Amino acid sequence: SSNRCLIAGNWKMNGILEEALEFLSELEANPAPEHVEVALMPPFTLLHSLSKPLDEKGVRLGAQNVYYEPKGAFTGSTSPMMLRDAGCHYVILGHSERRDIMGETNAVVRHKMDAAWSAGLEPILCIGEHLEERESGRTNEVLKSQLAILADVDADAALTIAYEPVWAIGTGRTASPEQVTETHAFIHQELQRLGHDCRVLYGGSVNPGNAEALMRCPGVEGALVGGASLKADSFMQIVKAAA
Ligand code: G3H
Repeated sequence: SSNRCLIAGNWKMNGILEEALEFLSELEANPAPEHVEVALMPPFTLLHSLSKPLDEKGVRLGAQNVYYEPKGAFTGSTSPMMLRDAGCHYVILGHSERRDIMGETNAVVRHKMDAAWSAGLEPILCIGEHLEERESGRTNEVLKSQLAILADVDADAALTIAYEPVWAIGTGRTASPEQVTETHAFIHQELQRLGHDCRVLYGGSVNPGNAEALMRCPGVEGALVGGASLKADSFMQIVKAAA
């Protein structure tokens, strides 16, 4: 249903203050339709500066990662309370770039989710298969093992899932509406089995040209947008396509 729909922009390691200010001024010309929730995940360095201006435009703020310890000698890390203090509502966890490049395991992701919940953040848990896993028919098995960390999580925990096939991220190659529909159905079924009724987003090369067809797929309740979220114009076109 449309009030569950979220369009979230993950800037990844992109964006300096000047670019963020330009993005904000372009947002003025592109107000979000009321029944779509919009969120932005800029790099840590921009969180505090973007918190108030985004809030004024009805855009929620999120971070791209968090550490699970509350404070202390963990050079270079950021705690969940620091993210709350910077105005974050969301935190992306388990993104394939962190799993594949930084070696994050399902266990680490779960540890971070628990820490996020204790601070009042809502995790956006990313799951998705690699190309060779899809081609060898192991997609559902991979997704099932990534979702298994939710087994003993409270049914009412604030949580959003993002299905991001790794082969569709930053490649310009999206999953077909058939693949998206089929995979989202499996994810919803698996979530239900685990006692969760949460929103499931699609991510992977979403752009203004394909957003409408992807958002129309049954079981898709929004998008996690990478490259196309860097410019307010293309990002807001995707938001409008979801309305
Ligand atoms: O978090 C966002 C996804 O990784 C998608 O990135 O839209 O650049 O393919 P992309």
